[in-house]
Amino acid sequence: RSNGLAQTPPVGWSSWNNFGDDINEQIVIETIDAMIANGMRDAGYVFVNLDDGWQRYKGARRDHPLEFDPKKFPRGISYLADYAHQRGMKLGIYSGPGQTTCAGYTGSEGHEAEDARMFANWGVDHLKYDSCCSHREAPKEELQKIFRTMSNALMTQKHGIVLHACHCGWGDIWEWAAGLGVNHWRIGQDISDDFNYPGNREQYYFDVLDQLDRGVGLEKYAGPGHWNDYDMLIVGLDGQSKQLVGTGASNIEYRTHFSLWAMVSSPMLVGADVRKLDQYSLETLTNKEIVALNQDPAGNIAHKVRDDGDLEVFARELADGSHAVLLLNRGAATATMTFSPRADLQAPMDRYSIRDLWKHRDLGTYDIPFTTEVQSHEARVFRIRQLATSANGRSVSDAAEQE
Ligand code: DGJ
Repeated sequence: RSNGLAQTPPVGWSSWNNFGDDINEQIVIETIDAMIANGMRDAGYVFVNLDDGWQRYKGARRDHPLEFDPKKFPRGISYLADYAHQRGMKLGIYSGPGQTTCAGYTGSEGHEAEDARMFANWGVDHLKYDSCCSHREAPKEELQKIFRTMSNALMTQKHGIVLHACHCGWGDIWEWAAGLGVNHWRIGQDISDDFNYPGNREQYYFDVLDQLDRGVGLEKYAGPGHWNDYDMLIVGLDGQSKQLVGTGASNIEYRTHFSLWAMVSSPMLVGADVRKLDQYSLETLTNKEIVALNQDPAGNIAHKVRDDGDLEVFARELADGSHAVLLLNRGAATATMTFSPRADLQAPMDRYSIRDLWKHRDLGTYDIPFTTEVQSHEARVFRIRQLATSANGRSVSDAAEQE
């Protein structure tokens, strides 16, 4: 069963990482305006997703209905959906399958059809349905039932609504969620605002590299319409988030995180306050060549093709037959890394061209492995394309200068 939506991963913004439940109409309007003015919308960031905290009431529904908070949203949610749609963007909303949500607001339990109808009438395009607080230990059958119920309720509405099942990586949701019509599911807990903080994993805080490792082996579950979700982006949070633990990451580390989420085709929802992004973060997020990897129509998820301790190579084949290659240095010092299409992709590419997607530069034609420097915690990202070999069948070299 499929709703046919999210053929490429949702890309946009989510309110949670920076604002928590302290959200309102003005923030959403200013966010949309900022995303248009700073070029994010035109780089592909079209989803503007309200997370927990838009609801009027805390506590279970038996005492009151589910409504938007008129103090926070005086003109209602449909006003914001219209505001987004008029500008070529989409609005997302949040609920959960329990009596209450993670932040204690009214949930959708027992009222799924009614809530789905209300969300549809408001014109929303995306629902994050968050079960990790109300159903963390629930048996698989019960989990399947709650997501199936909401998925079916959404599918009977007049327009399509993307469904995000946020179960924080408990259980094995990736094995069955796509079959219920879920468009993306979290593979792990919320990431902290850290690149790789020692001890995070032991305390069950995931950081960028923890979540990356968690995704290894799950590649096969994702594809067009159904994606592994590595959590919202932390780019630009700089340790200032009220919701997330963590002291922030460096510019290079945030850029690496962004490159990795693109390579594995995770949804990419920016968690920072986009009204205040610094120039470096904005350049990171609006690198259209990296966003294009995330949005590649083939939807192949990058695999780790080489693991030499701190030095790792990730690769994926793109729809046009070229390959995206990411060289990751987890170590503390700059390293020299070599990439060989024959050895790493097992593709007999005797002659290939390379483009550097961060430098926005074609590096030339190669018929030997490619060698370059990768700084500590940096990811270099390349697009490589096989070229025809010469008429006599032997490969030729066009001044293939090593970097
Ligand atoms: C837990 C989720 O993992 C977060 O992303 C956020 O949606 C909060 N719940 C909201 O309460």
